[in-house]
Amino acid sequence: MKLVLLSIICICCTCALAEDDAKLLQYKDVLDLFKYMHQRTSLKKHVDIANSFNIKENIDKYTHPEFVNEFLKLYDHGLLPMDEIYGLFYDAHLEEAAALFKVFYFAKEFDTFYKSACWARYNVNQGVFLYALSIALQNRADTFEMVLPPIYEVNPYYFFNNEVIQKAHRYKQMGQPGPEYHFQANYSGWYMNVHPEQALSYFTEDVGIAAYYYFYNLYRPCWMNIEELGVNTYKRGEQYYYFYQQLIARFYLERLSNHFGEIGSYDYEDAFETGYFPSMTYPNGVPFPQRPNWAKFFTNYYNHGQSFSTKGQYPYAYYSVMDYERRIRDAIDLGFVITEDGKQVGIYTPDGFNTLADILEANPQAINSQYYGHLLVFARHLIGYTFQPLTPYKTVPSALENFETSLRDPGFWQLYKRLIIHFQKYKTNLSPYKHEELHFPGVKVEGIVVDPLVTFFDNFDIDISNAVYVNDDEFQGNDFNIHVRQFRLNHKPFSYKINVTSTVDKVESVVRVFIGPKWDEYGRFIELDENRLNFVEIDRFRYMMASGNNLITRNSEDLLFNDDRVSFKQMYDKLQVAEKPHAFPKRFLLPKGRASGQTFYMYVIVNPYKPLVLEKGAVVPIVGLGVERHDDFALGFPFDRSIDKTVFYVDNGYFQNVMVNHEGDDTIYGLTRSYDQLAAADCVKSQSYEAEKAQMSKLKLSYEPSSSSSAEFDELYLKFRSSNLYMPQSVRF
Ligand SMILES: *[C@@H]1O[C@H](CO)[C@@H](O)[C@H](O)[C@H]1NC(C)=O
Ligand SMILES: *[C@@H]1O[C@H](CO)[C@@H](O)[C@H](O)[C@H]1NC(C)=O
Repeated sequence: MKLVLLSIICICCTCALAEDDAKLLQYKDVLDLFKYMHQRTSLKKHVDIANSFNIKENIDKYTHPEFVNEFLKLYDHGLLPMDEIYGLFYDAHLEEAAALFKVFYFAKEFDTFYKSACWARYNVNQGVFLYALSIALQNRADTFEMVLPPIYEVNPYYFFNNEVIQKAHRYKQMGQPGPEYHFQANYSGWYMNVHPEQALSYFTEDVGIAAYYYFYNLYRPCWMNIEELGVNTYKRGEQYYYFYQQLIARFYLERLSNHFGEIGSYDYEDAFETGYFPSMTYPNGVPFPQRPNWAKFFTNYYNHGQSFSTKGQYPYAYYSVMDYERRIRDAIDLGFVITEDGKQVGIYTPDGFNTLADILEANPQAINSQYYGHLLVFARHLIGYTFQPLTPYKTVPSALENFETSLRDPGFWQLYKRLIIHFQKYKTNLSPYKHEELHFPGVKVEGIVVDPLVTFFDNFDIDISNAVYVNDDEFQGNDFNIHVRQFRLNHKPFSYKINVTSTVDKVESVVRVFIGPKWDEYGRFIELDENRLNFVEIDRFRYMMASGNNLITRNSEDLLFNDDRVSFKQMYDKLQVAEKPHAFPKRFLLPKGRASGQTFYMYVIVNPYKPLVLEKGAVVPIVGLGVERHDDFALGFPFDRSIDKTVFYVDNGYFQNVMVNHEGDDTIYGLTRSYDQLAAADCVKSQSYEAEKAQMSKLKLSYEPSSSSSAEFDELYLKFRSSNLYMPQSVRF
């Protein structure tokens, strides 16, 4: 029971919680564990339990005492100290977090779980604790419906630039201007101009998208042995592929709206164009590592003056990445992978794609991880460009080495695009879908009628009170409040009607709806076979096809995409849990439009329902950005394989041009403006420009160095110069 159940349970958990006061109090207790996470707790109830509860004496209260003992062994040996930076991509850290997770997970009763958590909140490093606790909450049968507080409020350090955090500190020290004070938090690029791609930081730094990515990785941590823990999921590897494929596609749509083209690609042997300056600091004050533009990975930058092999687990990251990638790509072309004992396992089989995806994710189900390695983990380290730690406990993870901050680095998108290219190497070795696989005899999509699609930016307030340090008294209450305000993309609700005629009656079918680009950033048509991976699936549902006309109406509000998350304090006050399961933020359902309209394709395909054949106990999760897996078609169907254009255009599929218009001021402190909006602004300017130019040339004729009009001339000149216009040759001193 997990994700699919979750969607059902969450709908009724408001009432369930209201009826069940005990559960409500438990939830309140759980939320308290997240307060001022970067400090050791001084909440009295935590400290009391931490001092009185002893895990060893209660070992019979855990279903698997052996796992608990493993943790205690580590604890006695010494864990990552308080206030050090936790990095889950560092073995020593992850080992501790995974061990602590098992203590939480295997606690029989909620009471034991809670006491263990209070004990750990007081005694264990905050990062280790937060990670282990969050995953345990997501997976325990008695807590999985408890919605976690938004991570950007729990840990603002990982979501806001330093000047924002600094300002919060200033107000804490100097006194707040008002009880509900808020100020504007800007995205990167408004201060430090590092690369034009910073114009996309409203997307790559969006708190909702980053939180979605973080929670996705809590649901399905790549290291988690789902068999050992009994948390089964259906085709884990394939879901992994689809999640990233869709995320990358969605980013590409946003790039097009901002006049950027394809996500960049790179070679490890060559310099890496896009640098990254996070402008962020860890709660202990250490800055996030930076990567300059044109970084060279092959010079082993971080080994200069360091020993080559003994510091940390990544000294050979450059070679490891190249080796793993080579082996995986060989396997794809050979058609099999090699097990530890040298046997061949074919990958062009019904489950073969999943086998390959397990290897690329490097999860515990992956075959021969010694040989195929942890490609993405090493690549994150290499591209993240951090230092060799002096000891395992003095690590400074790069932005790419935390899930909260990964998306901020342009390197992330390039790296995962490369991952999709590996997967597609496999898919292009499969034959394109045949006519009978695409076709639904008797069913024809006549058209799609879509409401006007309108995007805009609006303000969103975020409570960052947890970013400040409080004393023991302040810790007991919730008295310090500081909010930041951010411009975030949004769109007006819309509906679309799919007009289907059918000669078949009472046939269960599945409808898929995609949004994809039509033109590239230069206005050139993108051939479908080159475009297919840019389609984002926004809707998928089952529908009983009736003979005759079927007018299917869908509303953007009903899609699985998530509403804004409720803030930490609202959760605490209202104790309501009524959110949908984790999906991409609804605000970003549509890519940003342009003032004069940006064309996209909407594509619909209707196919007969193909039931899922599930293994016993398997769970069907949300896949991609916000759709449920309903049937047994490959994820991404029909765009996942290369396209045979002679058979692709079936009657049961339909491409519709749609226009997304952007309304209002689309300026985020000068970072992102569409050309047509700029042109409109210039049009107004150029009228006054002509008038000023005329006056200028008149003055110029009468200009003499000592004349009284000289001051007037200077003033006009300065005004002219600062008016941001092109300076014509004829106006010179
Ligand atoms: C964000 O930018 C605005 C406009 O430039 C500025 O007034 C504000 O102080 C900035 N916010 C912070 C936290 O620096
Ligand atoms: C659906 O398409 C059919 C066939 O083109 C047409 O007759 C009908 O009017 C359409 N219905 C709507 C509501 O557009």
